[in-house]
Amino acid sequence: MQKLEGAPWEIDPYLKTGGYEAWRKCLKELTPNDIVGEIKKAGLRGRGGAGFPTGTKWDKVLNHRVQERYFVCNAGEHEPGTFKDRHLLKHIPHQLIEGCLIASRTVNAKASYIYVNHEYAEEEANLRKAITQARERGLLGKNILGTGVDLDLEVYSGHGSYVAGEETAMLESMQGRPAMPRQKPPFYPTDFGLYGKPTLVNNVETLCNIPQILKNGAAWFTQVGTEKCPGTMLFSLSGSVNRPGVYEMPMGVTIRDLIETCGGGVPNGRKIKAVFPGGPAFSMVTADQLDLPMDFDSLKKAGTGLGSAGTIVIDDATCMVAATLKYSNFFKGESCGQCPPCRMGTINLATLMDKIERGEGSRKDLDSLLQLCGFVKGTGYCTLITGAAVLVQSSLRLFQHEFEEHIRLQRCPFQPARTGAGANA
Ligand SMILES: Cc1cc2nc3c(=O)[nH]c(=O)nc-3n(C[C@H](O)[C@H](O)[C@H](O)COP(=O)(O)O)c2cc1C
Repeated sequence: MQKLEGAPWEIDPYLKTGGYEAWRKCLKELTPNDIVGEIKKAGLRGRGGAGFPTGTKWDKVLNHRVQERYFVCNAGEHEPGTFKDRHLLKHIPHQLIEGCLIASRTVNAKASYIYVNHEYAEEEANLRKAITQARERGLLGKNILGTGVDLDLEVYSGHGSYVAGEETAMLESMQGRPAMPRQKPPFYPTDFGLYGKPTLVNNVETLCNIPQILKNGAAWFTQVGTEKCPGTMLFSLSGSVNRPGVYEMPMGVTIRDLIETCGGGVPNGRKIKAVFPGGPAFSMVTADQLDLPMDFDSLKKAGTGLGSAGTIVIDDATCMVAATLKYSNFFKGESCGQCPPCRMGTINLATLMDKIERGEGSRKDLDSLLQLCGFVKGTGYCTLITGAAVLVQSSLRLFQHEFEEHIRLQRCPFQPARTGAGANA
């Protein structure tokens, strides 16, 4: 992602670096099948969390028998420790707009939206100003660049809830219904999305990669990263690091490299106790696993996940029970309440964690925690409850001694109980 001169919404600095060239090519030279072919060749995988192959998803909507289709860019970002889409919206809105125009045109969407987390007021304002400038230059709107193509983008000010970022919940909320996920199958957006029609949903970062791939070619894109996860990833690095921030690194960068080279290591001579490589909904890893490569497949093989690459570092002065409780409380607050195992499970997990942290827990509570995790995992319409259970399971597996110490002392052994909260974590 390149840094541009001037205000981020100004179109000229972006045009100077070859901005909207890919869009022009899509309007005048490339067919939708050419575009999908190039994205498949690049091997781009979705950056919103699941790592689904982008070309395959576009192909599905493009070749759907139903002709009325929609496109939605997902800028709902709300997970603790993830703030990379915010960075893209704020600093390079034109690259996102170009990616959205290409996506929308490729699948021949009837209407196209950018769903923005309503807490991102400044980012949304930048995006709106950038869209206005692109419209003034004839790059979107009616009869784009004299080609006869009409296409516009509408910014949709979304909800501030985590679940509303789940694609089916997002589409529900855009239709005026509660932001609750739908059961999949059958309600995959590619088949049954907005207004019950095929809908292409992609993450902000996924879409920002599109103009670069079409401008520079798939071979350029695959020069970095791993064979099965090509390209770069934007890592939101936070917690106990000297330089928290958003870092673009090749897929497959090691956790150590990210923390040390980008983040400048851990402050005050402290040591790493644990890392969430892909946010609190995936298992933690410990200090002896820092040489793990960070890409979808390697982290999955290691029993964790990349998610949307919200990497949170926890140092050795942190109470792991308190840190886990903080995220258990987050999941409890964010459960939409639709699926009973999630509604009750997130409350019970947080209640038991709180009891242990306060020094009122017993060994029986540890057994209950493990039993509950096993019971609720995989039971929701979305993965929120699974994430909440995986968090507690991994904390208990890796730091059982800390849980036992709370029970033995009947208080938190860390005074004060540090949760490892850093910027955005
Ligand atoms: C609870 C939950 C929250 C999610 N929040 C987001 C989000 O804020 N932004 C996002 O792009 N994807 C989010 N996702 C993933 C989306 O459902 C979807 O997979 C993604 O937007 C698809 O885009 P991609 O293929 O480009 O990754 C979330 C998923 C779950 C289960």
